[in-house]
Amino acid sequence: MKNAQAKKFKRYTITSALPYANGPIHIGHLAGVYVPADIYARYLRLKGEDVLFIGGSDEHGVPITIKARQQGVSPQEIVDKYHSIIKNSFEKFGISFDVYSRTSSPIHHQTASDFFEKLYNNKEFIERTSEQYYDEATQHFLADRYITGTCPHCGYEKAYGDQCENCGTSLSPNDLIDPKSVLSGNKPVKKETKHWYLPLDKYEPWLKEWILEGHKHDWKTNVYGQCKSWLDTGLHPRAVTRDLDWGVKVPVKGADGKVLYVWFDAPIGYISASREWSEKTGKDWEPYWKDESSRLIHFIGKDNIVFHCIIFPSMLKQEGSYILPDNVPAFEFMNLENEKISTSRNWAIWLHEYLEEFPGKEDVLRYVLTANAPETKDNDFTWKDFQTRNNSELLNIFGNFVNRTLILTQKYFDGIVPTANDFTKEDKAAEIKSFPGRIGSSLDNFRFREALTEMMALARLGNKYLTDAEPWKVFKTDENRVKTILNVSLQICANLAILCEPFLPFTAKKLSGMLNLSGLTWKDGGNTNLLEAGKQLNKAEYLFERIEDAIIEAQVQKLLDTKKENAENEIKVKPAKENIEFEDFAKLDIRIGTIIEAEKVPKTKKLLKLKVDTGMDQRTVVSGIAEFYQAEKIIGKKVSILVNLSPKKLRGIDSNGMILMAEDKNGKLCFVSPSEDFNDGSEVR
Ligand code: MF3
Ligand code: ZN
Repeated sequence: MKNAQAKKFKRYTITSALPYANGPIHIGHLAGVYVPADIYARYLRLKGEDVLFIGGSDEHGVPITIKARQQGVSPQEIVDKYHSIIKNSFEKFGISFDVYSRTSSPIHHQTASDFFEKLYNNKEFIERTSEQYYDEATQHFLADRYITGTCPHCGYEKAYGDQCENCGTSLSPNDLIDPKSVLSGNKPVKKETKHWYLPLDKYEPWLKEWILEGHKHDWKTNVYGQCKSWLDTGLHPRAVTRDLDWGVKVPVKGADGKVLYVWFDAPIGYISASREWSEKTGKDWEPYWKDESSRLIHFIGKDNIVFHCIIFPSMLKQEGSYILPDNVPAFEFMNLENEKISTSRNWAIWLHEYLEEFPGKEDVLRYVLTANAPETKDNDFTWKDFQTRNNSELLNIFGNFVNRTLILTQKYFDGIVPTANDFTKEDKAAEIKSFPGRIGSSLDNFRFREALTEMMALARLGNKYLTDAEPWKVFKTDENRVKTILNVSLQICANLAILCEPFLPFTAKKLSGMLNLSGLTWKDGGNTNLLEAGKQLNKAEYLFERIEDAIIEAQVQKLLDTKKENAENEIKVKPAKENIEFEDFAKLDIRIGTIIEAEKVPKTKKLLKLKVDTGMDQRTVVSGIAEFYQAEKIIGKKVSILVNLSPKKLRGIDSNGMILMAEDKNGKLCFVSPSEDFNDGSEVR
């Protein structure tokens, strides 16, 4: 990459991918997006640049509606829950967003809707009608994830319409053998539906020029390479609307029941967030998005490249009033103990858990994730490495140097900065001067590991200087020399307080406090008279503490337990019960029935009162499924019911029979429902 600072920008618009609010976030998120984005934003602010650092939750999309369905709550409840968990984790880790917004907010719906409308009015979209799977029972078009069936490649029976999780093949719903609707279990039918498409093929020549020629030298090779392969393969029109009831409504006539595709609305979320910031601060958001002297940078993970380098820029370009990203520093993935991080297998270090288990050690994780940043290739987080980096780098070098310097200054000079006397060639002034430039140039080029190594090199230099100079020995014979040594050491500490700030903001704050410094900027870096002689310092505190083996072993054990649990879940089928005779079985009268009424039993958490049409009668059954199903959503459902179970009073209600249930993969109780259409009363034998 060529030096990014060649052009001088007036202001910086820094975005970080909006995480889906369908679960908490883990170290992979921090390492690949938010820590580097935050380092960059903090660095620019320290340099006095005008920065707008944007974050927010991505709250639309099918996975959120699926999760809501599974838990029997509304999508809004899901995103409310995770938005607040995620936002809190970011705050605790010092991710210094100027605004953290969310895409379910009214301002976002308005912004995204207007954006679509403008392109629509400009006749940018192609309208196309196609046949898609439709669930007649629930009257829904089915998103790919809402269709399951048999994988044509491996025969796995629960493959999704977009992917088989057994063999990993990506699929389209049409590939599935024997497709079923997740909503009703019925076989879906094909039905015509109209959607709007962004004609990416039309933009191809422009994209080729803009990316392949314009950004050949300044975009990271992984980013450039992915774009090139997309562009070489050829682009096709892409649907930007969906049949779904959760999202930004499509603002045109004849689009009832349709919303914007989540990847159309989410990046517009960056703009909505900027407008929200504007309303809160009274500052104008538009220059950050519309003025050519602004530099727009998207921090993302590698799975987001096509959306941020091809689709969103095409949207911005067609809209016409926006600037385009100048760079998109996408990171690769962080693995955990040699395995891919996986939410469904709980193979992750969750930030909210880390915060509870390692209070006050936010900077340690920031440090370890930066030192191992998956900048150019996937990288690995291990607890052992975490411990080593804390103990032998942060503690033994950085912490030890600062601590010795402050303690000695306290001991010999009552915590007052001593006057430097004659410098010798060991006294490092020239070297210290070069650090801000070196660290800065690495950061300008998005080389965060290198920048961190440079910052630590200054701590290393200080630590070695102090060790070699041995002021504790010299003091007896030459107090003046000790004054110089400690003065120099203190100036290095002051430099560290500035230069570590982007990486270790909490440490920087503590250190500045100890040195009684405030308001320093990047420009002060390299100065060897930041602390004037005679200045009173504050009490020394520890910056870091040793992490003992037992702590690490407990974390490793936690992961081993997860592994064991996963393995058990895979074979968690109970052995068969004892044999019975046919006569025993024949005593059971199980029928197919339809739920015709359902309501929650007041003051209970688990119970639903159901009325079931059994073909013979309509009867009341109390069932312990309220945690898994919302009453209003199960009316019309076909179920299997044991009808000759002796009646029983539950919470004062006579229950006549029992609905048959089975646990799904996630431990959720589901109805044992026939997949074909049966008459009520049909016997299960
Ligand atoms: N939610 C997406 C993900 O986690 C990222 C969205 S980035 C945005 O992969 F630009 F669309 F907001
Ligand atoms: Zn398969």
